[in-house]
Amino acid sequence: MFTLDIAPVWDKIKHIQSSCEEAMKLKEPGLVPYDPVRDIEVLHAKKHPPKKGFSTAEGQARMLHDLANIELQAMELGLRTLVEFPNAPQGFKEELLAVTVNEAEHLAMCLEGIDKLGFKWGDWPIHNGLWMATSREDNILDRILIVHRYLEGSGLDAGDTLIRRLEGTEGKHTIQKIVKQINFEEIGHVDFGSRWYREICSSKDIDPSEDFPARMDSLRTRLPKRIEPLNHVLRRKAGFTEAEIRYYEELRLDFLKPALESQKN
Ligand SMILES: [Fe+2]
Ligand SMILES: [Fe+2]
Repeated sequence: MFTLDIAPVWDKIKHIQSSCEEAMKLKEPGLVPYDPVRDIEVLHAKKHPPKKGFSTAEGQARMLHDLANIELQAMELGLRTLVEFPNAPQGFKEELLAVTVNEAEHLAMCLEGIDKLGFKWGDWPIHNGLWMATSREDNILDRILIVHRYLEGSGLDAGDTLIRRLEGTEGKHTIQKIVKQINFEEIGHVDFGSRWYREICSSKDIDPSEDFPARMDSLRTRLPKRIEPLNHVLRRKAGFTEAEIRYYEELRLDFLKPALESQKN
């Protein structure tokens, strides 16, 4: 049984490895839910209640709750790709299984952290923004680019900013260690995406330096807007070329334009 159906979050974590192993045996692509069903309230991110600062236990737990939601979607997106692309290279599927199990570990770390702070999963609403950035119509290169290079890539920038913001707050002693470990391990997830993006391009005789900007141009309208400053050091470690980093710098400026223009007026 795939854990993409509704189930308590801890059950999803418990079954993720066996669900991935089941998915790897598929001969034909499987169908995934259009919208993942949750055991807690789902609300558009714009309608979420305001956040407290990191000096409060509530602010720290809320941050971990937001992060847990990202890890949950990352875990399910890994399984989703295994279900939808049974004919992907075996090496890719094996590495993706390991990445997906690592997402489950991240999710468990966040949930335990929330608990320690005296709060629980479901104390705040969540969103399905990452899942909704993918589509049943994606091909394997779209999927790698969206999930591992765009979403997880921008997660590296945001994670690094967060680690620095936690310095000098009470959060340094409670949640910074969790965020640091997750961000360090995420470099490997993004690098997995960078390597396999090139590998699959080369197996299809596609030039990645031409494909990357063209594919990003075709996908960008449905991606969540990421405006965090890019961390070039982490991006390079995760396998981005200088041209790809430049592309994302320009994309970020485009995303920032409406805000910058309203400041001028
Ligand atoms: Fe993760
Ligand atoms: Fe990840």
